[in-house]
Amino acid sequence: MRQDDDSWDLASSVGATATMVAAARALASREPDALITDPYAEPLVRAVGNDFFTRLIDGRVPAGEDDGGAARLITDVMAVRTRFFDDFFLDASRAGVRQAVILASGLDSRAYRLPWDEPTTVFELDQPRVIDAKSATMADIGATPTCDRRTVAVDLRDDWPAALRAAGFDASVPTAWSAEGLLIYLPPDAQDRLFDLVTELSAPGSRLATEYHPDGGAILADRAKEMNERWREHGFDVDLSGLVYSGDRHPVADYLTDLGWSVSGRTRPEVFAHYGRAWTDADVLNTMRGSVAITAIKDQGAS
Ligand SMILES: C[S@@+](CC[C@H](N)C(=O)[O-])C[C@H]1O[C@@H](n2cnc3c(N)ncnc32)[C@H](O)[C@@H]1O
Repeated sequence: MRQDDDSWDLASSVGATATMVAAARALASREPDALITDPYAEPLVRAVGNDFFTRLIDGRVPAGEDDGGAARLITDVMAVRTRFFDDFFLDASRAGVRQAVILASGLDSRAYRLPWDEPTTVFELDQPRVIDAKSATMADIGATPTCDRRTVAVDLRDDWPAALRAAGFDASVPTAWSAEGLLIYLPPDAQDRLFDLVTELSAPGSRLATEYHPDGGAILADRAKEMNERWREHGFDVDLSGLVYSGDRHPVADYLTDLGWSVSGRTRPEVFAHYGRAWTDADVLNTMRGSVAITAIKDQGAS
């Protein structure tokens, strides 16, 4: 169960979800028709040193029939999701946005692998042990950022804007924000507060990408239970469903619209189709189909 001040590393609690999705990116990068190339995902997952995740990227956790196709689908979901956020940042960069903030950056390697237009400052926010471990691994393997990367070790339920400003964030220029794989790990009121604060810090012309499940945390907790059951026998010992906050949430698209953002949203099957991947209702874990990916632009007139 979650607590207001809980914290974690990359092998425990919410931190393990960052390793899980990085493992999926490592697998997705090896596909013959790969949608993404993330050369850092594999070394980052190996550096965590968790037996289950290492076996997952070594192909020693069965995918396909044995797990009902769950691992395969998660790989596809992560490939499509990663590409969606990559394209969001590259579009913003090409449009002249020179400041980006990755909320809950986990093992995201965009600051090292995207061809950001020069000069771009990219802020990564996550819990201290997550930030420190990623920075250490990237330094160990000699990875060099493709931008001015600045880390902000902070809890997103705390006063993160102060920490962001202290790292050099400039609220007077447009920013590209992402909140990827984050919202269900925040209490509903903290989710609203996050978007209130993002709005306050966003100059007109700022952009935002996120994804959310209109049915809220409960349906995702069910999905997490299903994954726990499939993977427990392979040594996966994190209770994923206990990490998700339940309770009613404001639909993100409506909430942002009310805050002065122009929002466009697409369902997961629509985003899959956009990237040439098929989604069928026969897929396992089809609770994931309801997710909505949105991009938004802060209206010029809004302050
Ligand atoms: C599923 S991972 C997603 C990571 C990254 N966005 C990605 O897609 O690869 C969830 C991330 O949210 C971070 N996170 C969740 N709640 C947080 C909080 N209250 N403060 C800071 N980070 C948080 C976790 O540490 C973890 O890195």
